[in-house]
Amino acid sequence: MDPSGRKCESPGCENSAKLQCPTCIKLGVPGSFFCSQDCFKSNWKSHKIIHALAKGEGNEKANDTFCPWPYYNFTGKLKPFPQTPKRTVPLEIGRPDYADHPQGFPLSEQAVKGSGHIKVLDDEEIEAMKVACKLGREVLDEAAKVCGVGVTTDEIDRAVHEACIERECYPSPLNYYEFPASCCTSVNEVICHGIPDTRPLEDGDICNVDVTVYHRGFHGDLNETFLVGNVSDKIKDLVKVTHECLQKAIEIVRPGEKYREIGNVIQKHAQAHGYSVVRSYCGHGIHRLFHTAPNVPHYAKNKAIGVMQPGHCFTIEPMISMGTWKDEMWPDKWTAVTADGKWSAQFEQTLLVNETGCEILTKRREKNGQPHFMDKL
Ligand code: MF3
Ligand code: CO
Ligand code: CO
Repeated sequence: MDPSGRKCESPGCENSAKLQCPTCIKLGVPGSFFCSQDCFKSNWKSHKIIHALAKGEGNEKANDTFCPWPYYNFTGKLKPFPQTPKRTVPLEIGRPDYADHPQGFPLSEQAVKGSGHIKVLDDEEIEAMKVACKLGREVLDEAAKVCGVGVTTDEIDRAVHEACIERECYPSPLNYYEFPASCCTSVNEVICHGIPDTRPLEDGDICNVDVTVYHRGFHGDLNETFLVGNVSDKIKDLVKVTHECLQKAIEIVRPGEKYREIGNVIQKHAQAHGYSVVRSYCGHGIHRLFHTAPNVPHYAKNKAIGVMQPGHCFTIEPMISMGTWKDEMWPDKWTAVTADGKWSAQFEQTLLVNETGCEILTKRREKNGQPHFMDKL
């Protein structure tokens, strides 16, 4: 034992400590004593996390050791962080069929898959959609409040989950084809379907939060891209143009319009600003089912089937990228990223076709109805 009575920090080593880690001395970290160079070296992998934490790098650098897919080549800088366990919903809240299916299969959706029939909602169903969509909007607004520098996407997911329960809503993504969280959080080069995890958001990031709620048998679906801290003008322009793409598409929605026209409007505007349109993910019919007919591509010259009629409910949710339109998937089978690692933004609303045009059922009701990112411009 040395005069101070310190023992080596290496697990299981009972020797007295003679050496202090030089980096810890420099950083002013107390402790960090080892008996020998050998013990110091054999503990380096776990010990260096202390340095990252001391430098205020928090989970970011501590994540160096978390590497679930060693053979996957990431397209950009974003990496996965550990996830927290699936959250639970009180059984009093009405749940969709897939919530309790072992593989999360939405059997009611699968039963009508391929029929192409677009449901015309009756007055009662329209009222129910209005309520679900209004609640979905409230939940997204709660997510907007917590989203910021240093906040993890898992904390956003918790806020969404709790806001759903407070409103007697089941968070629709939870267990949908086994999706493990209550919303999707898609950061930077993630196009869509990002899984919330323990990565703290960084200054300059963009984070899309996609909320869907299931309330008394009906789904309401919306998303927005939020600015985190100081975002560059170049990235702000991507977010602004993406929102304009959605607005311009909504403007053409009226009875008699073809669903395939929506993609022409979106691609024209995106392309005029030098951006590309993601092709693998589309808008969709939504009501008692989460995803159903019509299929609504966001790219030009598509062959979407169907003509808009009063009583149709569907989403438009363009994903606009700064580089290639091509996407690929992380090995988690959910996270869709740009193939070139350049950043991508998205906005989504649920719409009801009426006699003269459409009603935006998920529209923002406060702050002039503008999307949250405009509050920060
Ligand atoms: N909300 C997404 C959409 O806009 C779908 C998410 S499905 C999930 O269609 F399983 F990833 F949650
Ligand atoms: Co959607
Ligand atoms: Co959505």
